Amino acid sequence: MKLKPVALALALSGISLHAVAANDEHTYANLDEVVSTHLYLDLDVDFDDKQLEGFVEHTLDWQDANARTLVLDTRDLEIDRVIYQGKSGKWREAKFDLAPRDDVKGAKLTIKFNQQAPKVRIYYNSLPQASGLQWLTPEQTASKTQPFMYSQSQAIHARSWIPVQDTPAMRVTYNARIETPKNVRAVMSADNTGAFIKDGDYFFDMPQAIPPYLIAIGAGNLEYKEMSHQTAIFAEPQILDASVAEFNDTQAMIDKTNAMYGEYAWGRYDLLMLPPSFPFGGMENPRLSFITPTVVAGDKSLVNLIAHELAHSWSGNLVTNATWEDLWLNEGFTSYVENRIMEEVFGRDRAVMEQSLDAAGLRAQLKTIDAPDTRLNLKLNGRDPDDAFSSVPYTKGQLFLIYLEEKYGRDVFDEFVKGYFKEYSFKSLTTAQFVTYLQANLIDKHPGVVSMDKVNEWIFEPGLPADAPNPTSDAFEKVDTLTATWLKGDITAAELPTANWTVHEWLHFINNLPRDLGNDKMVELDTQFNLTASTNKEVAFAWFMLGVGNGYDAIYPALDKHLTGIGRRKLIVPLYKSLITNGKRDWAYEVYQGARAGYHPLAQGTIDALFN
Ligand code: BES
Ligand code: ZN
Repeated sequence: MKLKPVALALALSGISLHAVAANDEHTYANLDEVVSTHLYLDLDVDFDDKQLEGFVEHTLDWQDANARTLVLDTRDLEIDRVIYQGKSGKWREAKFDLAPRDDVKGAKLTIKFNQQAPKVRIYYNSLPQASGLQWLTPEQTASKTQPFMYSQSQAIHARSWIPVQDTPAMRVTYNARIETPKNVRAVMSADNTGAFIKDGDYFFDMPQAIPPYLIAIGAGNLEYKEMSHQTAIFAEPQILDASVAEFNDTQAMIDKTNAMYGEYAWGRYDLLMLPPSFPFGGMENPRLSFITPTVVAGDKSLVNLIAHELAHSWSGNLVTNATWEDLWLNEGFTSYVENRIMEEVFGRDRAVMEQSLDAAGLRAQLKTIDAPDTRLNLKLNGRDPDDAFSSVPYTKGQLFLIYLEEKYGRDVFDEFVKGYFKEYSFKSLTTAQFVTYLQANLIDKHPGVVSMDKVNEWIFEPGLPADAPNPTSDAFEKVDTLTATWLKGDITAAELPTANWTVHEWLHFINNLPRDLGNDKMVELDTQFNLTASTNKEVAFAWFMLGVGNGYDAIYPALDKHLTGIGRRKLIVPLYKSLITNGKRDWAYEVYQGARAGYHPLAQGTIDALFN
């Protein structure tokens, strides 16, 4: 791969910015000619027409003396008008051309100037089907009184609500004025102090430079509660207190991560609770992680999600993948750091159980993914990054880092990771650049421990190396022994000593039961433990997967509610898949017809594809 690093040391708000020409195949942007360094967004949140409407103003830093053209990414945007500020300060009309829409990349917006304009303003509106926005009616919210909307820009959906150089190879600062109906509060991935007075007119300022996929907005009936001096939750009032109780270890997580990897760089760390239709578990929008309510379990059993999104404040948001083929640099490091945070705050036993569950999930997934897509350094070949999404960048990435940690020891490896985060703060890098850094700062410094061949095997070869870590938990081994005894019929379900089982032990137990367990055993478990009625969404999911695989029909009313009430892809897509392959296609299709309107466009797209 040819790399042309155009180190654009831009002194902006004291942070030196770099755009890396990284051959990001998912952008039309001409970064070698001009880089946008700051955005000002002035948008009206129009719930009636399900659109954002207004303008974005780009501050431009020209790179090439001959350049007169700015190319931006868009998808399903209506562009009304483009004006630019000439060097004299006067605003003039600019000529622009919006090319036909490409299914993956969207529509290229080319703006032509007769000079190197320092500022350009694009007046536009998004469309109701914007891939990066979800619009909910009041009936679809917990409050039932006000509508709700939010963005999800990663990987390449920022372009569906902002005309922007939509590549993680560059960074912008931004500020914004957002107007909403009076009783709706807007929040952004920025300093939110301008949103404290709920009056429909909000101001935001993001002084730290971020890649465009981290620009985020949410608006709804949002109230606010502090958890600590640095953390608070924004949520609909119905789930605010439960969320605060669930996530009140967030400050402890920040403090532990600061100690391990260097000071948190973003000021506040708040959480925004989204409606259950949010297609992900969480999204690491800076200063304000977006969180699914499906992790509010009542017992903190799923708070590794918070550790994960927080960890992105170092890996991902501070040190960013230059292209989506380098996603593992982002998610693999984050999964690793997440687990280190969990160990610090909740202890080693729980951390290892979480490693083991994830590793089992990865090993199962590896069997279903085409070999080339099991490489850490993905080859997308023009595909939408969403289509190559799997646990490979997450858990194979994490296992690689655990491997290095075990080989070099924690002291050495922690120093390396901390140094890496420092070196690449507010920068983006490719896998090739990472390999160079790794070799110079770890492999060659401590000769004879790990070879570069081994590093290359992990990063560029499919599957898992034969000597990959295989995290095992003592607690899980006990569960395995008991399971075998019960399966043989030596003890009854009532005799299983489950009283002190954690959610993790339950997940391990259910996930490892055979798919031909037979109806009697399913009934025995359900009668004893009432699993069909589990209020823990991960346990319910695991149980439903087992139930569908076993043709256990008692789950169907509860499964209908699960599929209709939740839009988190990880908790619904595998169920739809399994229903289809287990002869329940018609039933699943009928449920989907009822549920579809409540799902996010991304989830709709994924599930439409299953049925077509
Ligand atoms: N950044 C991701 C979500 C994402 C990744 C969106 C790629 C679009 C493209 C987020 O941090 C994430 O990984 N969430 C996980 C959390 C889990 C691993 C604890 C999720 O949503 O399940
Ligand atoms: Zn993540």
